[in-house]
Amino acid sequence: MAKLILATGLAIVLNALLGSAYQLMCYYTREAKNRDYPAKFKPDDIDPCLCTHVIYAYATMRNNEITPISMEDLSDYDAINNLKTRNTDLKTLLAIGGKKFPPSGFSIMVSTSENRHTFITSVMTFLRNHNFDGLNLDWQYPGSGRSPSKDMYLFTLLVKEMHEAFQNETLDEHETRLLLTSTGAGITSIIKSGYNIPELSQSLDYIQVMTYDLHSYNDGYTGENSPLFKGPHESGCLNVDCIMTYWKDHGADPNKLLVGFPTYGQTFTLSDPSEHGIHAHTISAGQPGKYTNEAGLWSYYEICNFLKNGATEIWNALQEVPYAFKDTEWVGYDNVQSFQMKAQWLKNNNLGGATIWPLDMDDVTDSVCKQGKFPLTRTLKKALNIQIPSCKASYR
Ligand SMILES: *[C@@H]1O[C@H](CO)[C@@H](O)[C@H](O)[C@H]1NC(C)=O
Repeated sequence: MAKLILATGLAIVLNALLGSAYQLMCYYTREAKNRDYPAKFKPDDIDPCLCTHVIYAYATMRNNEITPISMEDLSDYDAINNLKTRNTDLKTLLAIGGKKFPPSGFSIMVSTSENRHTFITSVMTFLRNHNFDGLNLDWQYPGSGRSPSKDMYLFTLLVKEMHEAFQNETLDEHETRLLLTSTGAGITSIIKSGYNIPELSQSLDYIQVMTYDLHSYNDGYTGENSPLFKGPHESGCLNVDCIMTYWKDHGADPNKLLVGFPTYGQTFTLSDPSEHGIHAHTISAGQPGKYTNEAGLWSYYEICNFLKNGATEIWNALQEVPYAFKDTEWVGYDNVQSFQMKAQWLKNNNLGGATIWPLDMDDVTDSVCKQGKFPLTRTLKKALNIQIPSCKASYR
């Protein structure tokens, strides 16, 4: 009895010391360092105590080997991994792939045992040489678009072989096994043709589900980027609740599932400024943001600027996310309140944690939103009760 009480007491103390078990993985995109002030954000501007993992996006592939997109990225790798001197609990991952990566690269690499071996060996050498703690596979998407249907099986095989190779490497010489995560699609038709969920879940450490880009100007009407719940005019699985439940119900370990939290919104140009609700007709993407310079997308700080300039903000209570409009401009996005509600939902569902895409589109300098630096990411860190032992001194 005394032993049991002691053990329980110890567990409580340990839990208090170590904080929550949730992961908070933050992507840094390599474009961020080239933006104009105040959006410019270099790898060493990252607060090392904000996230449990920092992921550098992206590396690429040449001759089936992992390689930097530009040689200048090597100094970014150094800066990212130097963050670990200020937070010894921080883990760093290198991501390969992404939206702009030609999917044929992955298809060719997985197609033969020899190519997969070349890739896996190059990854282990590369990660160790640059002091990364793991790899994030971001193939968009196996078995969809120009990727043949056999890639679903070959991707699973790659992940299994990679997991085994990482384990073997640990036995050989290194103390800590390299981490292996994969990005997972949010759209159910893409999930069905791309992933053997139970087998991937066994071999991967985490699955980072892309619970964003769920509505965009391509639809021809307004909609939220990453709503928690279903909209009034839809029957599909285009919300965080439905997508995460799908992954869970199809065999993913809930502890390995990370919910994607976007720090940007989807923008639209309305057909008629007097029709500005959800599912209003649109004619095109919104104008590119001043700093992010991409049609159809605004960062959180660009959205704050839009609100400052007189846009009307509406809380979409049904879907638990906001939207805003002014004249023919419309944006569906996330703010502090929606991050809080989604974090609560994540905890209620006992999932593994969250991924921020990307850290550099949060209000990184506090020059625009006036909610403190990294308002969205800090909201998530607080809501998930993430306490980083080696950051105790600087924990705010
Ligand atoms: C891992 O090691 C085992 C035992 O030596 C070996 O049979 C297996 O082929 C190795 N796997 C990989 C992917 O290196």
